[in-house]
Amino acid sequence: YQFDQQARYRAYADWSPSYLAELNALADQSPWRNQFHIEPKTGLLNDPNGFSYFNGQWHLFYQYYPFGPVHGLKSWNHLVSEDLIHWQALGLGLEADSALDSHGAYSGTAIADGDVLRLFYTGNVRDEDWTRIPLQNTVTMDSDNQLASEKMTIIPPLDLATDHFRDPMYFSQNGESWIVIGGQRKSDLKAALYLYKATDNDLTKWTFHSELTVPQADTAYMFECPNINFVDGKAFVTFCPQGISSDQLDSKNIYPNAYFIADAFTEDGTLTGAGTLQNLDYGFDAYASQLINSPDGRVLGVSWLGLPEVDYPSDDYGYQGALSLVKEYRIQNDQLFQYPVAETLQLRGEEQTFGTQIDLGHNHYEYAFTVDANQTAEIALFANVDKSKAVTLSIDTKNGTLILDRSNMGTTFATDFGTSRQLDLTPGEPVTVNIFADSSVLEIFVNHGAYVLSSRIFPGDKDQTNIIASGTRQNQVWPLSM
Ligand code: FRU
Repeated sequence: YQFDQQARYRAYADWSPSYLAELNALADQSPWRNQFHIEPKTGLLNDPNGFSYFNGQWHLFYQYYPFGPVHGLKSWNHLVSEDLIHWQALGLGLEADSALDSHGAYSGTAIADGDVLRLFYTGNVRDEDWTRIPLQNTVTMDSDNQLASEKMTIIPPLDLATDHFRDPMYFSQNGESWIVIGGQRKSDLKAALYLYKATDNDLTKWTFHSELTVPQADTAYMFECPNINFVDGKAFVTFCPQGISSDQLDSKNIYPNAYFIADAFTEDGTLTGAGTLQNLDYGFDAYASQLINSPDGRVLGVSWLGLPEVDYPSDDYGYQGALSLVKEYRIQNDQLFQYPVAETLQLRGEEQTFGTQIDLGHNHYEYAFTVDANQTAEIALFANVDKSKAVTLSIDTKNGTLILDRSNMGTTFATDFGTSRQLDLTPGEPVTVNIFADSSVLEIFVNHGAYVLSSRIFPGDKDQTNIIASGTRQNQVWPLSM
């Protein structure tokens, strides 16, 4: 199907039932359907949105274009869960169906506000000349998951920013309500974060407060999807600094997802004691992570396992994109740890141990192992038995390197951005690794979540279900199922 601009922005109701039937039939043939990762049946998933706890349930939405594996007229697709693991799909939650969001209901956040869930999002509006007018809007959803008919713009375009001004993230601190928005300065076309404060904590009345100073990222031209969270006595900021130079952040991906830790977010809206800018994820495919301060005290987050402007093998089946497992974020000794929430343990089946090789007959598992100090290890995942097709993880604990190589995974995509990713570790120290594999997802957690590598993996053959390991110790595997 040719997705020209007109097709991409066609009203949802104008797609023919026969086209949708064909698209669904095509999607049904995919060999890469994941079991415990959220993905769209058809069309494209991108950023996680509106992650929240409301009315006794977890709510999670994602940026969604239903009609093909391309970025078109975006809406929010809605899921709910009791346990952060089993998600029930409720269908479209927020649609681009008004003058305030004519060309897309773009990314944003949600917060329980009395007896409603309040959504904040960017209404992507374009005029006759295709000039973009970014509106920050709010709308509420009731306890029957029904959206109110009234949408309202709370923040008009900002004079200081270009039309790159989006992704409002709500947070509260010191008894005040704030919104941080990603953007681009008009004055020098560099990236900026903009802070707004609610008048008397009224979540419909927002006043521009200031530009938030971001350290070590002044080469970027746009910050997408900012989040400010508070955990273990620290503030930390995650965002996607597009166009950042490699000396400010070393990332091989088309666009990175980065973070820094700060001592505090003060009452006057500044971050004090900011630390070094770092990659949030060292894998091939993690972007637009949305993190929340959940009412249970945890900081929880979800990443888009995909990147803008990248084609994926599943495009041939009419769909693209997946979300990560829900992760918990902690800070210990100024080091960020991220790890699948404890609830993930319920997916585990019976533990199996092995020496050097195991064929599970499927790729839905957690695999844990240790590499002792001053060792080299090589682990083949998604491998056929002779390892001619596999994803490899090479770990050298003497020199402190971990390399993930997907050049031989069985399909080829996104090779313009390289086929391996390297993580540097402290030389001379042992390493423990926990891997969560699903049919076309690999989430690798190093040293209990001190580092994460998240990637899409599309095996070429059905028999790529082996794990073959050398130099590892304590190989444990748990099949994972819902
Ligand atoms: C990030 C992003 C956001 C925007 C959304 C549109 O992937 O570009 O900045 O709100 O996707 O789908």
